[in-house]
Amino acid sequence: MTEFDEAALESHREAGEVLTTVMGETREMIEPGVTHLEVAEYAEDRVRELGDGLAFPVNVSVDAEASHATPAREDETEFDDEMVCLDIGVHVDGYIADAAVTVDLSETPELVEAAEEALAAAVEAAGPGVPVGEIGAEIEDVIEAYDYTPVYNLSGHGVQRFDAHTGPNVPNRGVDRSVELEPGQAVAIEPFATDGRGKVGEGSKEEIFELVEDRSVRNRSARQALEQIREFDGLPFAARALDTSRAEMALRRLTQQGIVKGYPVLTEEPGRLVSQAEHTILVREDGIEVTTRGLFE
Ligand code: CO
Repeated sequence: MTEFDEAALESHREAGEVLTTVMGETREMIEPGVTHLEVAEYAEDRVRELGDGLAFPVNVSVDAEASHATPAREDETEFDDEMVCLDIGVHVDGYIADAAVTVDLSETPELVEAAEEALAAAVEAAGPGVPVGEIGAEIEDVIEAYDYTPVYNLSGHGVQRFDAHTGPNVPNRGVDRSVELEPGQAVAIEPFATDGRGKVGEGSKEEIFELVEDRSVRNRSARQALEQIREFDGLPFAARALDTSRAEMALRRLTQQGIVKGYPVLTEEPGRLVSQAEHTILVREDGIEVTTRGLFE
């Protein structure tokens, strides 16, 4: 892979602009008493209006939750005085922008600053030929200077056409100096900062799924669900996005058969807080381009 062709470049840029607009609108909605579902559905509707579609369901993570949380159908959970991470993915013609902001309702603004400043330092350090571990070291240094800990077992990642999660991995610490960023890569850089131990584990909730192996199924409700799942072009989808009466059972069946895979919510220990800041960058021959710039202004 060398550079982006013109069409890919235009689609990446458009995805980034749509995402920046939607994020700007959506983050303003987050306040106590508003439900997670209202926020997620608003953002998802706007993404579909302005772009081609979602690259993954809108993630709404609170407090110890770091990733893969999205409301269930008819979820009535409201925001409280919490740390709220909003992570949105947009695609235009399959080309993906992935970005996140944190809205602090918990009166812990330094934790948000730590993630945002780490992201700024990471973007500043990024470029063609730069080892990913060097970017990770920038992230780690900034977050530790705030006396917080990066979440070590989460990392930034490449995005490819219709694939929201590919290489290269961009660690949130100064390891892995062998892999370098290369021109033609689109990369989501996402520092997470926490007052916890810096390690997330799998929680019990699972609301995000992805088609991993398309095979025929005999069961009627599973077959109906699979027909809808094919519409997501292999991208992750929310259980609530399935419009069938027995979606939950169908998903369980499809998961057991290895056709669909679930993404459990990833969380720090209870009582801890996690913040996140994320941009998507394009690595070019002569530097980088941030497709989601303007997100933190
Ligand atoms: Co993201």
